[in-house]
Amino acid sequence: MKVLVTGAAGFIGTSLSNRLIKDGYEVIGLDDFSAGNPSGLMPEVKLTEAKINDQKKLWELLQGVDCVFHLAAKVIVPDSILYPREYEKINVGGTVTLLEAMRDVGINRMVFASSGAIYGIQDEQPLKETAKPKPASPYAVSKLASEYYINTIGRLWGLEAVCLRIFNAYGPGQKFSFAHAPVIPTFLKQAASMGTIVIHGDGNKTRDFIYIDDVVEALVAASKIDRPVELVINVGSGTETSVNEVLSLAKKITNGSPEVVYNQRRPGGPDRMCADITQAKTLLGFKPNVHLEDGMRMTHEFIERFRK
Ligand SMILES: NC(=O)c1ccc[n+]([C@@H]2O[C@H](COP(=O)([O-])OP(=O)(O)OC[C@H]3O[C@@H](n4cnc5c(N)ncnc54)[C@H](O)[C@@H]3O)[C@@H](O)[C@H]2O)c1
Repeated sequence: MKVLVTGAAGFIGTSLSNRLIKDGYEVIGLDDFSAGNPSGLMPEVKLTEAKINDQKKLWELLQGVDCVFHLAAKVIVPDSILYPREYEKINVGGTVTLLEAMRDVGINRMVFASSGAIYGIQDEQPLKETAKPKPASPYAVSKLASEYYINTIGRLWGLEAVCLRIFNAYGPGQKFSFAHAPVIPTFLKQAASMGTIVIHGDGNKTRDFIYIDDVVEALVAASKIDRPVELVINVGSGTETSVNEVLSLAKKITNGSPEVVYNQRRPGGPDRMCADITQAKTLLGFKPNVHLEDGMRMTHEFIERFRK
């Protein structure tokens, strides 16, 4: 099996590509390294530095490919509010360019990394795929628009595609910085170094955290579904965890006592996010294997190893 992974040098792309190599796949990777870093990829991954909108390069890379995993995207929500045009160009435009290139070369199978962010604020939890999307940022709009393009074009051109709405993925290799500060690695690093943790709101907001290996498992399983038609599937743990609970775990795992500041002036998104994973269980045979505390321990060990 030969696959193309776009965004191969990113957090999820690296784990996915390495896993596929271990499973015996031939893996072609595309990334422009705008956010990704190739250092974590196994040498067997055939990586090309290119933009997702480079149609000629896509024609070249798609030769003989059986399935495309489309992960390349800009992923920073606040950034998308400042620069929505970039998110439209790369996330939506890139998806459509890729779809056209796939049609031109005759490739008809795709797994797309969509996002739980498309749901926005909803009264009903856990979130079912049938809930009416209420995207609350240009990033979320770009993911939803991509889903619509994939499903509509899929119907028109006979493309077999699965869109996975991934919730809050975390684990070793997740990048974080002041500008892009995902909860788990940021809390672990700050707790371990006795730094400051800023929590937006009162810390009672909940999210659905899913360990990277479980996400990769779902991506691989999605690529094997027999003749998928307009499939959209949630990928989460199915468990709701508050930001304060993550804080307690970060303190316990690191043995740290960071300074914690609650910033009530920044609301920080929906109050609750929890994936209904019934469809994932049925259609993908999906079962989240890594418990949050274990996953956070592995993430902490990874961060510490690279700090030394
Ligand atoms: N991490 C999560 O919690 C999460 C949740 C839901 C959905 N997703 C989706 O999964 C995918 C991967 O996310 P991630 O967390 O690994 O992010 P990431 O930023 O680590 O990976 C994205 C990769 O895409 C590359 N890229 C960006 N613009 C590009 C362009 N124009 N051309 C080529 N490559 C480009 C980046 O360099 C990066 O390596 C994204 O599509 C994201 O929207 C992630």
